[in-house]
Amino acid sequence: SFMKNAAKIALGVNIDHIAVLREARRINDPDPVDALGVCKRAGADQITIHLREDRRHINDLDAQKIMFNSPLPVNLECSIDPDIISIVCQLKPHRATLVPEKREEVTTEGGLDVLGHFEKIKKAVDQLKAHEIDVSLFIDPNESVIEASQSLDIDMVELHTGAYANIYAMLNTPLATTHHSITELERPRSELKTMLHRSLEEIKDAAYLAHQKGLLVAAGHGLNYQNVEAMCEIEVIKELNIGQSIIARSVFTGLAQAIIDMKALLA
Ligand code: PXP
Repeated sequence: SFMKNAAKIALGVNIDHIAVLREARRINDPDPVDALGVCKRAGADQITIHLREDRRHINDLDAQKIMFNSPLPVNLECSIDPDIISIVCQLKPHRATLVPEKREEVTTEGGLDVLGHFEKIKKAVDQLKAHEIDVSLFIDPNESVIEASQSLDIDMVELHTGAYANIYAMLNTPLATTHHSITELERPRSELKTMLHRSLEEIKDAAYLAHQKGLLVAAGHGLNYQNVEAMCEIEVIKELNIGQSIIARSVFTGLAQAIIDMKALLA
């Protein structure tokens, strides 16, 4: 109904992959800065970028230009490395999302190990908060991690939806998921359905627990035009950060249409 559509979920568009394409040639084209106005006009609510320690896509100059030119709030993802945190404090985005980082990984593979790195995370959080930057933690949808996060001065958690997205893909588009092992693909559909249900329940339970504890709740990683609907049904999730699927579609439709299509699914 109209009223049901009134409470819309915010969309953060992750534009890192525009810089990935540029770095394929190590030139200056395409420039992620050129995406900012397009994102805003197409209905995006936020720009998300990840300044990685290895600078494999977004670099310091990109981050500066994006901060200076963005008509939308910038959600800056970063590791807890002290050098990176100092840069982020100078950039002063409206929010920093702390993520785990491994140099070898293709993309962020899991949530922050909040218990394992508690003191380092606390230090990063306190430094960011001292610079009046909101802080979000990218975490697995897991009760003990949320409990551990609670004593930190954070504003938000972003729940890692990668596991859910992987299971969804194994069930619905197995031929497209070449990175799964044969044994994973040979799982009976009934088992995959159970796994999908369980992963959704984990996200839902974590979202409600975090919400109950007064935290804003976002979700992201691996979300696409097929699997995003279930996220919209979890009312306490107020924001999704989506990169790969939007930039992939934009090759064929243009960035504006890819964002319009995603916003339509979130409405
Ligand atoms: N949220 C976080 C914290 C991320 O690290 C990423 C990937 O950079 C995303 C969302 C977007 O993931 P995807 O590109 O799979 O949509």
